[in-house]
Amino acid sequence: MRAILCRNYGPIDDLVLDDVPPPELRPGTIKLDVLAAGVNYVDNLIISGRYQVKTPTPFVPGFEFVGRIVDVADDVARDAPHLTVGTRVLVVSGEGGYAEQTVVPAHAAIPVPDEISDGVAATFVQSYLTAVFALRHRARAERGQSLLVLGAGGGVGLAAVDVGASMGLRVFAAASSEEKRQLALDKGAEVAFDVRNDDIKTAVRELVAAEGKTGVDLVYDPVGGDHAETWLRTLGDGGQYLVIGFVAGIPSLPLNHVLLRNRQITGVEWGSWAGRNRADNEALLSEVMHSVAAGQLHPVEPTVYPLERTVDALRDLAERRASGKLVVVP
Ligand SMILES: NC(=O)c1ccc[n+]([C@@H]2O[C@H](COP(=O)([O-])OP(=O)(O)OC[C@H]3O[C@@H](n4cnc5c(N)ncnc54)[C@H](OP(=O)(O)O)[C@@H]3O)[C@@H](O)[C@H]2O)c1
Repeated sequence: MRAILCRNYGPIDDLVLDDVPPPELRPGTIKLDVLAAGVNYVDNLIISGRYQVKTPTPFVPGFEFVGRIVDVADDVARDAPHLTVGTRVLVVSGEGGYAEQTVVPAHAAIPVPDEISDGVAATFVQSYLTAVFALRHRARAERGQSLLVLGAGGGVGLAAVDVGASMGLRVFAAASSEEKRQLALDKGAEVAFDVRNDDIKTAVRELVAAEGKTGVDLVYDPVGGDHAETWLRTLGDGGQYLVIGFVAGIPSLPLNHVLLRNRQITGVEWGSWAGRNRADNEALLSEVMHSVAAGQLHPVEPTVYPLERTVDALRDLAERRASGKLVVVP
């Protein structure tokens, strides 16, 4: 079967498309025909060896994916009768998605409702659970609060726009291209700013001034980099800066601007929380998946790349050309 192999940590150009023996079923596992695998920023980190969890090489990358069960181990057939051949499941296992087939632990597989397409099932978990965990559990955001989302046309940012709007927040989006800004508006942003050219700090202060506020209540930042201080200063009194990621680099922030207006900086790491709180995370995933199936949350349909163009997909994401989500289909 065909699979993308990461033989050693390094640049994505070192990935190879190879013919490898089909993976073997072991006790406690199921075998899947992969239907679609999401392309996430974290895949780039894992392939280059910069992720906090190191996957032993060689391995097949592909952090989250959806597949159809083609075989189950005997103990799984006995202990998990809902995982039958033909069932469509999503998996977030950190590896294995960029292949025609994969074998995963049965406990990692969640059946997907028919209402959710392969593309959405393969791409919503990381971005949407991060957004819900950040806004509800970490920020304790309340209806009517204002939220500035950076990188709002990317995977994690766009999910925060959708989740924020569904919670009744006033969402302001910032993104670099017209296409990304339109996506954010489509998902419920009130305004979408050009992050390269607009004076966003002044504009959002004007937008919230009528409510007697001195700036936004929440900043959702998966980008980091040189602009972080500006976003910190965009927060009003008591405002909260949600630290989500650092695609543009890890910023340093002047603490005097935290002290001055009683602001807060809040770290968000959904992955490590999920690992330590499995039951809570399963409940969160089940809740979010049902909201998606019911049309209350609206993950974007991803752009499709064939397996042989996996490196192009990873490069388009890394070089900021991707709007919304990308998916690899074997
Ligand atoms: N904390 C958590 O629990 C958690 C969970 C999942 C992911 N993350 C992190 O969230 C971050 C975003 O992930 P993602 O999947 O949303 O990535 P993505 O789809 O590539 O989106 C990132 C956005 O960042 C913006 N950007 C600004 N400067 C950039 C640069 N130098 N290079 C690339 N993009 C740049 C781009 O938007 P514009 O072009 O519009 O500026 C891009 O759309 C990553 O750091 C990831 O590790 C964190």
